[in-house]
Amino acid sequence: ISFSYVSQGCEALTGLPEAQVRADAESFFRLVPAPERTHLSATLDASAAQFTTWNWAGRLLPPHGANEKWINIRARPRRLDSGEILWDGLVFDDTQGRLAQLEVERSREELRALSRHLQTIREEEKARIAREVHDELGSTLTALKMDLDWLGEHLESAPGPIAQKRATMGKLVEAAVAATRRIVTDLRPSILDDLGLAAALRWQATEFAKHTGARVDVDAPETGLHIDRDIALALFRIFQETLTNVARHARATEVAVKLSSNDDALILRIRDNGVGLSEDDLRKPTSLGIRGMRERARQLGGDISVSAEPGSGTTVIISIPRSKRAA
Ligand SMILES: Nc1ncnc2c1ncn2[C@@H]1O[C@H](COP(=O)(O)OP(=O)(O)OP(=O)(O)O)[C@@H](O)[C@H]1O
Ligand SMILES: [Mg+2]
Repeated sequence: ISFSYVSQGCEALTGLPEAQVRADAESFFRLVPAPERTHLSATLDASAAQFTTWNWAGRLLPPHGANEKWINIRARPRRLDSGEILWDGLVFDDTQGRLAQLEVERSREELRALSRHLQTIREEEKARIAREVHDELGSTLTALKMDLDWLGEHLESAPGPIAQKRATMGKLVEAAVAATRRIVTDLRPSILDDLGLAAALRWQATEFAKHTGARVDVDAPETGLHIDRDIALALFRIFQETLTNVARHARATEVAVKLSSNDDALILRIRDNGVGLSEDDLRKPTSLGIRGMRERARQLGGDISVSAEPGSGTTVIISIPRSKRAA
């Protein structure tokens, strides 16, 4: 191969004088690091064989230890009368573009790490608050309840209004105990550890049905699923977030939940019969729910999809590989 024409920009790009590259094409190709040179030749051969545009992007190491450059080659082959092939085209310097792209990738990776970190902190924080509410508030309320019972026994002969007051106080304390229990369970779904994912999904679905009046149908195998704690927690949190969305946006009367698994992955599908959503809804800059769900699934090597038919509801599908592997 030889170059029949080399422009003035040659030296600025490659560090080699134009005359040298014209006289010795190899001096140019030698600047491409060896493994990439193989790929470069292959693309050149393919272009010659199929008469398609030769496109190649890769690195160039200019002589005298100058900084590496990223170049793009784009050239169109044509056959000369002699039978030889001539490419007309350009080699251009894409170093800035490439560095910008690497920078974008780097900061994206950083954001991902940050989000992972925040996620972990959030779970730890919730567990801590749950522990404190349970230990501090829980035991105080229990003591209060016992004192009230004691009072009740000693007030048997007391006038009506006092006994009534005691009874009302007893009810309030019971309500506070129930609320505490609910808050603790919300913060740290111990049901997940105690009874497993299927039971936890069912429990959350029942809570949801109570609050919204929608019918929720959960189809989840009660046994036979051995699920990592991390995966179960992620699926459960994503499930909660999805139900929150259904409650806030869908105006649905029915929700169908299905947990299934194959050898590779766990799949959770949540379908509602609400108003559905559009691509634009998913792009709302201030909406972080679905983005957070996706991030959470991806941290475990999985993904989620959200699809909707106008007027016939929304389906969210979450899949997470059974064996942990980061995306
Ligand atoms: N089940 C659903 N039915 C109808 N619309 C939905 C449903 N789920 C999500 N949406 C739409 O998609 C948008 C994005 O949802 P997303 O959960 O990401 O954000 P959000 O709920 O608006 O806010 P947040 O960040 O508090 O979750 C919602 O604003 C809503 O318009
Ligand atoms: Mg939301």
